[in-house]
Amino acid sequence: MVEAARAPGTASADRPAGSAETLLAVENVTAGYLGDIDVLRNVSLSVRAGRISGLIGLNGAGKSTLMKTICGFLRPKSGRVAWRGADISGKPAHTMIDDGLWYIPQESSLFPYMTVAENLRLALEGRHRQFGSVLEQRYADTLERFPVLKEKLSAQAGDLSGGQQKSLEFAKAYMVQPKVCLIDEPSIGLAPRVAAEVFQWIGAFARSGMGILLVDHNVRRVVSMSDHVYVLSLGEITADGTPADFAGDLHDQVREWLGINF
Ligand SMILES: Nc1ncnc2c1ncn2[C@@H]1O[C@H](COP(=O)(O)OP(=O)(O)O)[C@@H](O)[C@H]1O
Ligand SMILES: [Mg+2]
Repeated sequence: MVEAARAPGTASADRPAGSAETLLAVENVTAGYLGDIDVLRNVSLSVRAGRISGLIGLNGAGKSTLMKTICGFLRPKSGRVAWRGADISGKPAHTMIDDGLWYIPQESSLFPYMTVAENLRLALEGRHRQFGSVLEQRYADTLERFPVLKEKLSAQAGDLSGGQQKSLEFAKAYMVQPKVCLIDEPSIGLAPRVAAEVFQWIGAFARSGMGILLVDHNVRRVVSMSDHVYVLSLGEITADGTPADFAGDLHDQVREWLGINF
């Protein structure tokens, strides 16, 4: 049962019910990389403030492609990506931080030959007008929150362990404090203890009011901690609902579609 799988401290029940602003909406998006091959077909989903939208699907379903389309690395062929109601489809990825949108990709976003401190401060230092007044306080808060990085500030990011690099990715997001964070496969390759920590950070981000779009191969974890779950199958959303919905018929369908037991 999905309900029984809820982990204490991470369940969506920790966040107040009721309406929350829809910050990000993907509306009937069709997109792909090459010519007429559509990797995403008519995909719609939304992310609300302080809520976790979970996206599950088999390898190759198009989950990462959807995140890249939201970020502007790909422009939809049809449909649109809306940020607080305004069309941001194909808007250059480097401008998304200005809106309050951040992306923790599956692959590293760190600069391996720069220090931990430089990686942490980089995005904010380049935007003095937006972040100049909060930079030092954020930096101090971030190091309190991610103490493992404190002793590593002058180390090169590329020399950190996998778990420490993931901490640095989340610490970067904490520095930016976006309104919405897209998080792609955060637990891949991590030891279970570190993965558990990653999911705690995600829960804490949501409780602070951040909207989250979460993709992870740990389907049970995604379903249990999301407020709304979307199933992506061969580029199409084939089901969506609350975690409770997944305890009934939908649960069986998803099991069947994904070919797994959870
Ligand atoms: N850069 C690319 N160029 C062309 N095709 C790609 C590229 N990246 C991914 N694809 C294809 O898009 C499909 C969806 O991939 P992806 O979004 O990475 O899936 P998921 O994240 O769900 O595993 C796959 O068939 C993959 O081969
Ligand atoms: Mg992927």
